[in-house]
Amino acid sequence: MALLYPKKDFAGKRVLVTAGGTEAPLDPVRVLTNRSSGKMGIALAEALLERGAEVTLIHGHVTEDLPKGAQAVKALTNEAMAKALQERFSEADAVIMAAAVSDYKVKEYATEKIKKTGETLHLELIKDLDILKSLGDQKDQQVLVGFAAESEDIEKNALEKLKKKNLDLICANDISHGKVFGENQNDVTLYHKSGDIIPLGELSKKETADLILDEVQKLFH
Ligand code: CTP
Ligand code: CA
Repeated sequence: MALLYPKKDFAGKRVLVTAGGTEAPLDPVRVLTNRSSGKMGIALAEALLERGAEVTLIHGHVTEDLPKGAQAVKALTNEAMAKALQERFSEADAVIMAAAVSDYKVKEYATEKIKKTGETLHLELIKDLDILKSLGDQKDQQVLVGFAAESEDIEKNALEKLKKKNLDLICANDISHGKVFGENQNDVTLYHKSGDIIPLGELSKKETADLILDEVQKLFH
């Protein structure tokens, strides 16, 4: 299915998109991270640019090239991503949070490289900020869109996140049956705050991005 958008239906809209994985540093040379490729966030940024939006792409580590035309802001940690979003949030028309953000960080960061002195090494992790929830708590005019990668109870978990984070729309990605990070295809269902449910089915990330944007566009009115 080729979707063409000659219409610039996002002209004049400022949209913040996050993409990729964040890192939680353990010491000056080591991090805890995840396998996010950033493909979904990058596809959203590309589709938004085609449709005329002013796009800021706040990204952790990504495996793809960043789209030309977006303002790119590198934010490798939860803290850096939260700050980059916070600085731009009040001026934004929409925020689409496709990044895989670290849920935990080490309780005590080691300022010197950890040496392999013992047979075991225990890391104590503490919960890090839920960035999307913090934006939901201070939401004004912004359309707020989240993602949820779920391997079970997709609908229940997605709806819980939609409510808890005060979102307008959540894009639930079915990662059961070995469907994992880094693929070009995905299987997303959209849940609106209004109760509308839109199963998109298995599509390329570009096709998925355009259909997500159709729903975001409706939320501006
Ligand atoms: N998110 C965030 N800050 C975090 C963790 C997640 O902003 N510290 C955002 C993600 O970018 C995504 C949404 O919240 O848009 C849901 O992320 P997900 O990992 O699916 O849910 P969590 O709330 O972290 O819960 P869990 O990992 O236990 O499923
Ligand atoms: Ca998480």
